Amino acid sequence: MLSFDFKNKVVAITGASYGIGQATAWAFVRSGAQVALLDLEENQGFLEELKQQNASFIFTKGDIRDVQVQQGFFDSIQARFGRLDVSFLNAGIEGVPGPFLESTRKDWTRTLDINLEALREGVRLSLEAMLPQKQGALVLNASIAGLRGFAYSSAYVASKHAVVGLTKCLAMEFAAQGIQINAVCPGLIQTPMIDRFSGGDMEALAPMIARKAIGRIGQAEEVAHLVQYLSCPESAFIVGQAIAIDGGYTLG
Ligand SMILES: NC(=O)c1ccc[n+]([C@@H]2O[C@H](COP(=O)([O-])OP(=O)(O)OC[C@H]3O[C@@H](n4cnc5c(N)ncnc54)[C@H](O)[C@@H]3O)[C@@H](O)[C@H]2O)c1
Repeated sequence: MLSFDFKNKVVAITGASYGIGQATAWAFVRSGAQVALLDLEENQGFLEELKQQNASFIFTKGDIRDVQVQQGFFDSIQARFGRLDVSFLNAGIEGVPGPFLESTRKDWTRTLDINLEALREGVRLSLEAMLPQKQGALVLNASIAGLRGFAYSSAYVASKHAVVGLTKCLAMEFAAQGIQINAVCPGLIQTPMIDRFSGGDMEALAPMIARKAIGRIGQAEEVAHLVQYLSCPESAFIVGQAIAIDGGYTLG
């Protein structure tokens, strides 16, 4: 297992209760970080386990679309830890897959609100905390859907392309001020989102998995390690990149 040292570092993670967010929280906790977690859902089992492991953490329950929730989350980080070193803006939804002409404005708005607008607010509040420190790392969770088109996923793909574009602009604006900003672009990763997407039928994903050079689905812990690498000083020369972690899906 990869070993990083994040002792005395403070890490914020949105969408932390399940999936990639939860795996990343564990990875940072194991590396000695203090973590601040935000999620719509309170995963009691996860929070209990964090306590049992003596993790240093705070949890905020709420919807990232609510600006008061996000403000409260970042305020609580300052109140408890007094600084912010890493922000992993991960919370996102898959939207409602289907033909473009059947997609409703409500579904589009919800996907864009969560995947882009609420993420923008998370970026703003992270920068507010990091700029006075002249140091910090932001990792945005995009997707291979930010690098490629996928039929019947127009709102999701549009939102994730926007996240990749935003990453590049932010990196150009803030790199010289000591803030490292990159995006991760996972391919199919085994999480509750994928369980919903496949309707619990992994066979339905077989054609997509077959397109991965590596021939298997990815694990959330694999993404977590990439997020950690992009958050440590050794990766400082990686600026504004949208890095695919997809078993080779985007090679062809
Ligand atoms: N799993 C994959 O294959 C995959 C691939 C590419 C990108 N991603 C991206 O990774 C991120 C995490 O995905 P995942 O697969 O872990 O999903 P998941 O659904 O398993 O977990 C997402 C977490 O975010 C939380 N969340 C959702 N909406 C929220 C909101 N409005 N406010 C606060 N919390 C909210 C959920 O409660 C959940 O804990 C997403 O941005 C997703 O687009 C996932």
